[in-house]
Amino acid sequence: MLLTRIDVPELPDGWSAGLAPVAHLAEHGLSLTRPVTFLVGENGSGKSTIIEAIADVCRINAEGGKAGTKYASTGEPTPLGAVLRAGFTATGLRLVKGPRLKRRAFFMRAETLFNLGQRVSGLYGYWESDLTEQSHGEGFFTVLDRMVSGPGLYLMDEPEAALSFHSCLRLAGLFHRVAQEGGQIICATHSPILTSLPGAQIVELGEHGIRATEWDKLQVVDDWRRFLAKPDFYLRYFLEED
Ligand SMILES: Nc1ncnc2c1ncn2[C@@H]1O[C@H](COP(=O)(O)OP(=O)(O)O)[C@@H](O)[C@H]1O
Ligand SMILES: [Mg+2]
Repeated sequence: MLLTRIDVPELPDGWSAGLAPVAHLAEHGLSLTRPVTFLVGENGSGKSTIIEAIADVCRINAEGGKAGTKYASTGEPTPLGAVLRAGFTATGLRLVKGPRLKRRAFFMRAETLFNLGQRVSGLYGYWESDLTEQSHGEGFFTVLDRMVSGPGLYLMDEPEAALSFHSCLRLAGLFHRVAQEGGQIICATHSPILTSLPGAQIVELGEHGIRATEWDKLQVVDDWRRFLAKPDFYLRYFLEED
C-alpha cells in the first residue's frame, strides 16, 4: 500500500464543499484498505472531484499525466486538492513524493487515454509494437501495459469508457497484476466488470456521502442485471411518443 488515508481537515472553498462525499471526508476521512479502490456513483456524485484532488496532492497534473515529468502540474490545485491531506506509507512517500526521476504516479482519464493512444499510434518504433498495426483497443493496451506496471500509484477516471466488454476484463486483469506487483490503483468507474475484481475495496458515493459496499450490492450492478433481463421495460420510458 502506498496511500492509506485521505482527510479533509477544513472544508474547501466553493462548490465542492456542497458535495455530500466531500462533507463525509471532512467528518470521517476515508481509509484506503486495499491495493485497488473503486469509487462508484451516479454522474455528478463527486468521483472526479476526489480523484483530481488526490492527483493534486500527489502533484500529478489533474488533466492527466505522469508525476515527475514535464507534464507534472505547475498549475493551481483544485479547491478540494488545496485542502486534502493524504496519508502515505514510507514506500508511498518514496514513489509519489521522492526524487523526481524515481516517482511513479500516473493519472489517466478516459479522454487522456484516448488521446495518448492516438498520439503514440503514429510514432512507429516508439513502443515495442507498431500501434498502427493494432486496433484501437489493442493499441490502448500497449500503452496501458507500459504505463501502468509495477509499484506506483495509478489514478484512473472511468478508464472503461473506450473499452469493449472483453477489454474491460483485460483491464481488470491488469489491475490484478499491478496490485500483485506492489502498485496501488484508485479508480472511478461505472463498470460492473472492473468492480468485480476480487479483493478490491469498493466505495459508493451519493447523497449519503461515502459508504463501503460490495460488488453485488452496487446500484450499477443491480441496474445492469435488471436492464439486461428486460431492456424494453427500461427503454419504454424514454421512447414514449408525445
Ligand atoms: N469547476 C466546477 N465548478 C462548479 N461545479 C463543479 C465543478 N466541477 C464539478 N462541479 C460539480 O460537482 C459535482 C461533482 O462533479 P464530478 O466530481 O465531476 O462528478 P462525477 O465525476 O462523480 O460524475 C457535479 O454536480 C458538478 O456539477
Ligand atoms: Mg467524473
